[in-house]
Amino acid sequence: MGLYKIKKVNGEKMVFCDDTRIRILIDEKTLSKKVKELGNEITRDYKDKEPVLVAVLRGSFIFIADICREIKIPVAFDFMAVSSYGNSKVSSGIVRITKDLEFSIENKEVIIIEDIIDSGRTLNYLIKNLEARNPKNIEVCVLLDKDVPRKTENVVKYKGFDIPNKFVVGYGLDSAEKYRNLPFIGYIENE
Ligand code: IMP
Ligand code: MG
Repeated sequence: MGLYKIKKVNGEKMVFCDDTRIRILIDEKTLSKKVKELGNEITRDYKDKEPVLVAVLRGSFIFIADICREIKIPVAFDFMAVSSYGNSKVSSGIVRITKDLEFSIENKEVIIIEDIIDSGRTLNYLIKNLEARNPKNIEVCVLLDKDVPRKTENVVKYKGFDIPNKFVVGYGLDSAEKYRNLPFIGYIENE
């Protein structure tokens, strides 16, 4: 019970966990290739600089662990946690900082590392909040960009994948705290 079981259904790999069926959207190989490319871009753009990677917890913990090892210059790390969903799948629209940075970012080159952009509210709020601390510069690196109509301006400089408007899990992303440790990105099919 509760084990992730991988089975092929009509030639397609699916993951079953109890009564939940998860379809793979982006597999491990594709993820790691893209993360490498993003790391190379950041390395090139920030050589001779020493950026601070600011990861947004908890969804970005796997992404930052992987991308930082593809960045071939010295970087500093800091972490923030925000909450906008609670345990729901629909953004509440209210963003709350539940853990703030440890260090000052004044006069620093900041790269926000985010797992996914949905409505864009979380990122917009974060950028405004961090800008008020007078960094030298802020750029955004996001793994997944959901195909949803968005009123907010495009703030993403480094982007992994455009994905359909589905609730995805795995590679750090959860559904009510489950499935973060799946090594791929998938979506729950039977909910
Ligand atoms: P936004 O504020 O609507 O852009 O939502 C961004 C945050 O909501 C992300 O940082 C994620 O933590 C979470 N989120 C948005 N879409 C998904 C999803 O499909 N699966 C899991 N978490 C998501
Ligand atoms: Mg997040």
